[in-house]
Amino acid sequence: MPREAEVTLPHQRIFVAIDTTDLDRAAALAESLVGLVGGVKLGKEFLTAHGPQGARRVAQCGMPLFLDTKFHDIPNTVAGALRAALPLKPRLINVHAAGGAAMMRAAADAAAEAGDDRPLVLAVTVLTSLDDDDLKAIGVTGEVESQVVRLARLAQDNGIDGVVCSAKEVTALRDACGPNFKLLTPGIRPAWSATGDQKRIVTPAEAVRLGSDYLVIGRPITGADDPADAARRIGEELAGNA
Ligand code: C5P
Repeated sequence: MPREAEVTLPHQRIFVAIDTTDLDRAAALAESLVGLVGGVKLGKEFLTAHGPQGARRVAQCGMPLFLDTKFHDIPNTVAGALRAALPLKPRLINVHAAGGAAMMRAAADAAAEAGDDRPLVLAVTVLTSLDDDDLKAIGVTGEVESQVVRLARLAQDNGIDGVVCSAKEVTALRDACGPNFKLLTPGIRPAWSATGDQKRIVTPAEAVRLGSDYLVIGRPITGADDPADAARRIGEELAGNA
């Protein structure tokens, strides 16, 4: 069994996306959000700049780590990369479902080598920046949602624990993949925050109502004048106390 990111309180569903190359700022932000969010998501921007040492520094805050690696390569290479990330003890890590069945199976098998510390391995189905026309241009016929469901089923059949998805897709994915398949949703905006470049947005409470297990929230927290206060407000909204 993977060591899941424990959710006993509503705010623990939140993984704050720390997208910066400023290591001190990232570590300070993470520290300031302990007890207000469930974990920290580090992605390509931070990891390319600071690598595992940087991730270790941020992890000193003690919160669970989601390594948003989005691996997509031949199975042997993805397995090796995932194995290389295991010493960081991430609670969540991800790959692209488009890498195919064998690649996802290799990723799941590599994660299992961590035993009791096995992270949940999620798959990215169709990037939320792509629409039906973009899929057509890369030779995928049909609509985004059917491709998302197809890739999620393939992921589930190959040992993957869940997917990163738009809130728009949560209902279809719950139907297709059942109650235990983890759904992690970015594109979250509280009613009081700016939308930025996200287009298909939902509020935190709406995402959970639809069935998301984990919420990735970046700028509404990290870009706020008082990130801790913003996180607290979102936590209260999730708890229904807003
Ligand atoms: O600042 P914001 O809340 O928009 O941050 C969302 C985070 O989720 C970013 O780190 C972004 O890379 C990530 N993400 C996303 N959409 C996806 C997958 C990941 O916005 N489909």
